[in-house]
Amino acid sequence: MKKYLVIGNPIDHSLSPKLHNYWFKENNINAVYEKKQIEENDIEGIISEMRNGKIEGINVTVPFKKSVIPFLDKIEIPEVTQSVNTIYIQKNSITGSNKIVGRNTDILGFKFSLEQIKYSAKGKKIFILGAGGVTPSIIYALEEMKPSTIMLSNRTKEKAENLKKSFPQLEIVDWGDIKNFDMIINTTSLGLKENEKIPINYDQIGSGKFFYDVIYNPRKTNFLLEAEKRGHQIENGKMMFIYQAQAAFSLFTVAPDMSDGLLPSVNKKVLQLLEND
Ligand code: ATR
Repeated sequence: MKKYLVIGNPIDHSLSPKLHNYWFKENNINAVYEKKQIEENDIEGIISEMRNGKIEGINVTVPFKKSVIPFLDKIEIPEVTQSVNTIYIQKNSITGSNKIVGRNTDILGFKFSLEQIKYSAKGKKIFILGAGGVTPSIIYALEEMKPSTIMLSNRTKEKAENLKKSFPQLEIVDWGDIKNFDMIINTTSLGLKENEKIPINYDQIGSGKFFYDVIYNPRKTNFLLEAEKRGHQIENGKMMFIYQAQAAFSLFTVAPDMSDGLLPSVNKKVLQLLEND
């Protein structure tokens, strides 16, 4: 039986096993997908398990999306993101040689989540909160959508300034300050715990804005609840999570002849599967 893993720390909260195991079953694939909490110095060993055929594919979550990179044979990601969330084996049926390849499906996940609700960021003023591991993938996806401005604010300003080196278009805003925007995106971990609040003045924000939170558990963070109360459009990170997983599944099932992998279903049943937690 083929084995797949999601690695991270912490990892308990991950819904990836639930989703991928469902899709494996749906596609009659004899495989199992598990989660594993690891430390930084476990990475090398785990990648070598891919080389010797014990593990077929890996998803990577916080805080290892960057630190896995040196152990891979090849990365196929936009350099600026420095973020790998999917590791798969690229098989070459002609030479018979295998390569361990890193990809970033968070970018696609974010993009598809907006397309699904028909939100166009073109010409819009975007305000990003946070400068953590997933933030560069979101900026990268947004830049392709040609917004008019991307502002970014992070508690530790230095991290925001660092991101500006990779994305010179960014306008850095002091933490706690609010500028006029059309769409605001929370990429911080604030809100994962129910009592956590982002220190912004919601009453200072005009009407008809779009609030997006990368967090999907809890389903509605304080950030989204405050926005909803004031009649703004809201969206959590659930569809981004599902679409990044769908793209990863597709890579996991790419055949040695390089034909496209399987695109598993994203439907009501899949959504319900993640609702129960
Ligand atoms: P990492 O920084 O290891 O990539 P992450 O979970 O991807 O971790 O990112 C955490 C993000 O949430 C950061 O933007 C972090 O801000 P700092 O750079 O200032 O640490 C933000 N964050 C976490 N806890 C926060 C808090 N209590 N107040 C404000 N921002 C917070």
